[in-house]
Amino acid sequence: MENNIYAKPFVKWAGGKKQLLMEFNGRLPTHLKESGTIKRYVEPFVGGGAMFFFLKRHYFIGESILLDINRELVMAYQVIKNDHKSLIAFLKDIEDNHLNKDEDGRKKNYYKIREIYNSEGHNFDFENYNTKWIERTGHFIFMNKTCFNGLFRQNKKGEFNVPFGLYKNPRIYDENNIKLVNQALKDTEVICSDFTNSEIHITENTFVYLDPPYRPLTKTSNFTNYSKYGFNDIDQVKLASFFKKLDQIGAYLMLSNSDPKNEDLNDEFFDKLYIGYNIERVSAKRNINRDASGRGIVNELIVTNY
Ligand SMILES: C[S@@+](CC[C@H](N)C(=O)[O-])C[C@H]1O[C@@H](n2cnc3c(N)ncnc32)[C@H](O)[C@@H]1O
Repeated sequence: MENNIYAKPFVKWAGGKKQLLMEFNGRLPTHLKESGTIKRYVEPFVGGGAMFFFLKRHYFIGESILLDINRELVMAYQVIKNDHKSLIAFLKDIEDNHLNKDEDGRKKNYYKIREIYNSEGHNFDFENYNTKWIERTGHFIFMNKTCFNGLFRQNKKGEFNVPFGLYKNPRIYDENNIKLVNQALKDTEVICSDFTNSEIHITENTFVYLDPPYRPLTKTSNFTNYSKYGFNDIDQVKLASFFKKLDQIGAYLMLSNSDPKNEDLNDEFFDKLYIGYNIERVSAKRNINRDASGRGIVNELIVTNY
């Protein structure tokens, strides 16, 4: 077990922003950097929360509101916030039971848990917190750490359909980190919702970081299916109008996205959508992709309104 003293993401998440954190940090509003304080932080597409945990480590944050449309992910945050000790006990059993098997046994175990997870998902009560949430979150974290590439992908019926991943010694959970995440989630509300519903939490001076699903780099390499709801160009346009609305409220906004110019130098999609705001291009290593050849250095866009 590592004994870090700062919380970090507890799941692998496509589009995780670990490599870009210093670029974001350098571009935070000056008054936040100088005071070291963020009174109110809202993140409408939180995913694995790399930015949230980074900010928690380096700034004093008064209040945070995190949203994501993926209800399994949001449930996991809520379980860690409400009952991390039971979750740790459950994960310990899962890990012991998994790691004492050979490769074939682990594979069977993975598919058995995936089947339980999918069959229980149909009538699951995602609305009211109950002890079943602990087991489901345990299964969710287990699959995240043992499935192919740590992807989260569902079919149209909402069933998790990622195959088993080959890892020599998968680390299923980090007890110390789950305790730290529990601490980091104090004064934090985590909501399962569409990004548009974050508006009621955003006031003048709120700092908002938006990291929507990527616009696919190529027509075949799209990974924007974090949930059964996709995110297409119409959603990107809707998001740009939302950005303008939040700008008018007086919030400080930072948005990141993939740069379509990586693919096509003439693609002005985001340059047009965010015209009038600051648009910068920084290099990033892209990790989740269909095949290894898709991994490499690409530009990422950072848009700010200050
Ligand atoms: C690029 S990821 C965010 C990654 C995150 N920054 C990290 O470091 O892990 C985009 C997230 O947006 C969520 N999402 C997709 N559509 C959404 C919507 N309409 N409203 C809110 N969240 C959405 C996905 O579930 C996914 O977790």
